[in-house]
Amino acid sequence: MGKLDGRVVIITGAARGQGEQEARLFAAEGAKVLLGDVLDEQGAAVAKEIGEDRARYVRMDVSREEDWAAAVTAAKESFGRIDGLVNNAGILRFNELTATPLEEFQQVVQVNQVGAFLGIKSVAPEIEAAGGGTIVNTSSYTGLTGMAYVGTYAATKAAILGLTRVAALELAARGIRVNAMCPGAVDTPMANPGLLDPGNMTAEAREAMADLYRRVVPMGRVGRPEEIARLALFLTGEDSSYITGQPFVIDGGWMAGVSVL
Ligand SMILES: NC(=O)c1ccc[n+]([C@@H]2O[C@H](COP(=O)([O-])OP(=O)(O)OC[C@H]3O[C@@H](n4cnc5c(N)ncnc54)[C@H](O)[C@@H]3O)[C@@H](O)[C@H]2O)c1
Repeated sequence: MGKLDGRVVIITGAARGQGEQEARLFAAEGAKVLLGDVLDEQGAAVAKEIGEDRARYVRMDVSREEDWAAAVTAAKESFGRIDGLVNNAGILRFNELTATPLEEFQQVVQVNQVGAFLGIKSVAPEIEAAGGGTIVNTSSYTGLTGMAYVGTYAATKAAILGLTRVAALELAARGIRVNAMCPGAVDTPMANPGLLDPGNMTAEAREAMADLYRRVVPMGRVGRPEEIARLALFLTGEDSSYITGQPFVIDGGWMAGVSVL
């Protein structure tokens, strides 16, 4: 028996990274998954590998309300209903606040913050109609603490925590639990663009990255996307049946305090 037998879950940004691992793990635990992303080739390949009976890919830009409507229709056509959502899609831009062009700020808000809002707005009524379920939003530890040069991103991730709390309050009576994950550094193309072209990553670059995490993360290493997927599974499945409205930090201890070692 899987932990998500009979569940139907939409996962955004599922073509790679954490979203891909969430789709693979959820399907392995018995769920049917609708993968949404803007990376069509990769997204379709992941869905194909998982298997047509359990997974379907649709192109969706999470900042477009019409794409959400199309994704909801596709999920219902393929799997009959929807009772879960993982708002995972996100983008990161490095910049000092005073140097950030307004357009860049607005682009990050559109994907991270508006995307999560539209997900809740579009999918919650479907989850309610299915008899209840879960929404998991992907915030970040920068949603809880500051980090220089990611001001725009941090603002959207803090906003996602606000959305999570309010959605939990408003949706509890409709049988929907809403929680958020706050990952620290995770080894995906977002935190480690070298992964997009591993052949060109020098041994020095790899070692510099490993050394950074050895110094700043108490557990001494970067997180793996599979580890975040297991938290998403916990928050989507019955193991978290009495939990709603909460942020869950998953960061190897990075936020526990100031490291002097
Ligand atoms: N990697 C980290 O260190 C880290 C830390 C904390 C939080 N997060 C968050 O985790 C989530 C997943 O990121 P990841 O680490 O897997 O990075 P990633 O860049 O590998 O994956 C992000 C996915 O989102 C997709 N995406 C981007 N814009 C989109 C849009 N408009 N519509 C639909 N899909 C879109 C991308 O194509 C990609 O497949 C993000 O919300 C990110 O902010 C990541």
